[in-house]
Parts: sequence; C-alpha cells; structure tokens
Amino acid sequence: MSKRIAICPGSFDPITNGHLDIIERAAAIFDEVIVAVLENSSKAPLFDVEERLTLIRDVTTHLPNVTADAFGGLLVEYAAKREAATIVRGLRAVSDFEYELQIASINKKLNEDVETLFMMTNSQYSFLSSSIVKEVAKYGASVNELVPQQVEAALRRKYETSRQP
Ligand code: PNS
Repeated sequence: MSKRIAICPGSFDPITNGHLDIIERAAAIFDEVIVAVLENSSKAPLFDVEERLTLIRDVTTHLPNVTADAFGGLLVEYAAKREAATIVRGLRAVSDFEYELQIASINKKLNEDVETLFMMTNSQYSFLSSSIVKEVAKYGASVNELVPQQVEAALRRKYETSRQP
C-alpha cells in the first residue's frame, strides 16, 4: 500500500505550540507529514525561511515521520510533487473558518485529488497565533507557554539584536 503523506502548510513565522499540537496529531494519523513553509509570502517575515525551517526541525526531533521543507507557488502543485494527498490545517475559532473555507475550496478546484483535513486546535491554544507571539515577545514579555523553548530563545535573540542601538 502506498504511504499516506500529509502536508501541514503555513508561514510558521515562527512555529508555535498550537502548530506543534496539530503536527503531532497529524503525525499520529499519517505515515509521513511534511511541514511546508511558504516562501515569498506577501507578509514581511521576522524569521527568514531557513531560520523557520531550522526551528521546525529542532522542535520536531521527537517525531520521526515529520520533515520540514520550503515551497513556492501553488500549494496543490507542491502537494502533487511530494505525492501528498492531504493538506492538514488547524482551525482555532469561527473567525478562521471563512478564510480556511476559501483556501480549501480553491485548492479543491485546482486539484480535486488533494483533500483538506481540518483539526480543531486544542482549546488551550485557541487564542494563539504567530503574530500574537511576536507582539508579546517584542515587548520583552515571556512567551514560554506559547512556543517551544528553542523558539522562545530565537525570539529573544531576534528582538535583543533589533533593540541594539
Ligand atoms: O500560515 P498561513 O499564512 O495562514 O498559511 C497560508 C498558506 C501558506 C496555507 C496559503 O497562503 C497557501 O497555501 N499559499 C500558497 C499559494 C497557494 O496555493 N494559493 C492558493 C490557495 S490560497
């Protein structure tokens, strides 16, 4: 039987405990999970793609069937190239629904063989986003319950450097 491969796509700027929770749960269902970081996003990132990939790899070492990669262009084309039939996305709240429905619908139209699977985010992370984490870290407050320890250290380094005169 062919391997069941899933893609967890996103900006991951940076990866949070909410992302990690979804990745861990996907890793328990699929044979392989590819965490795919979007290159050339219109958003100006805090971490470059290589830094984001390094952080993802550092915090998923306990998951042997998870790898991290960068992609550009259309997600469904990348999924086909990697022979992944499923896109996994986390849903936090009703506010995520419209955007996610839009992405899932267009992806289905572009390639009907690629399915999108939604997982409800663990309620303890329902408020969590990379933007919120950056906002809190920027002002020097602790994000230790929101991101893995390696990410917290990377955020501290980033904002300490940017605070240097
Ligand atoms: O973490 P994000 O920023 O919510 O992730 C959005 C992402 C990367 C899943 C989405 O922007 C995407 O898939 N972009 C790739 C381009 C694409 O396929 N566009 C068509 C569907 S929006």
